[in-house]
Amino acid sequence: MAGDVVLEIDRLTKSFGNHTALDAVSFTVSAGEIVALLGDNGAGKSTLIKCVSGVYRPDQGEIALNGQRFHSESVAGVRARGVGVVYQDLALFDNMSVAENLFAGSEPCWPRPLRGWGLVKRRAMLDEARRTLERLEVRIPNLKTPVGLLSGGQRQAIAVCKGIAFAEKLVILDEPTAALGLRERGNVLRLVRQLPAAGVAVILVSHNLEEVISVADRAVILRQGKQVGGVEATEAQHETIVSMIVGGRPASGNGQQH
Ligand SMILES: Nc1ncnc2c1ncn2[C@@H]1O[C@H](COP(=O)(O)OP(=O)(O)O)[C@@H](O)[C@H]1O
Ligand SMILES: [Mg+2]
Repeated sequence: MAGDVVLEIDRLTKSFGNHTALDAVSFTVSAGEIVALLGDNGAGKSTLIKCVSGVYRPDQGEIALNGQRFHSESVAGVRARGVGVVYQDLALFDNMSVAENLFAGSEPCWPRPLRGWGLVKRRAMLDEARRTLERLEVRIPNLKTPVGLLSGGQRQAIAVCKGIAFAEKLVILDEPTAALGLRERGNVLRLVRQLPAAGVAVILVSHNLEEVISVADRAVILRQGKQVGGVEATEAQHETIVSMIVGGRPASGNGQQH
């Protein structure tokens, strides 16, 4: 059951040069709800996510988290508000270990003055990384292994863990199962399905409609930066969603704002 509104996006607009990547997009996501963000390549999905996560500053529009507006905040600032993001390109550091990647940017440090030397509590970090991965049932034999040496599936699992482990309010996943095998895909979807029970709001970007229908409550569809509609993510809406993505005849529910 959806709870209070966690994220409110209001007329969000972002251009790159004279190309409008996002054109007045508005929707909300509530606690315990999984909303799929759908659209063809170039529709503006990743741009929207980066506006919310603080990577891009929107040109116009408002973003509010738990009723509080924010604008052009830093990535670290947004993360500190309880927002976790799994980026499409994974954003892992290949030469760093599994544990270091999980905590990159928020490493547990010794108190000053040692902290001034950037001394990280390595043992604490390793223990915490092990606990986090165990909690999420992700099995990586050696947490000191550089992630560049791991398989694509393991890397994706670590990126997902990093995005969801410390996020209390909102988790955003940009194509988290792209390039995964069937079993690994199942593992990631299992992690996503667990989030609503903890009251977390979820935005899921995926090209796989079966996957979307199996986990999401509803779908918001973008086409060329514009929001073309929002529908329930059910098998009955499958054809409607496809026609909204590719832009065929006007589908029922078209133009609805969610
Ligand atoms: N940093 C950027 N500079 C210039 N154009 C960009 C940039 N990021 C995205 N775009 C353009 O904005 C549009 C939307 O891109 P994107 O949000 O990545 O789409 P999606 O994630 O839906 O595939 C595309 O036309 C893309 O080329
Ligand atoms: Mg994208």
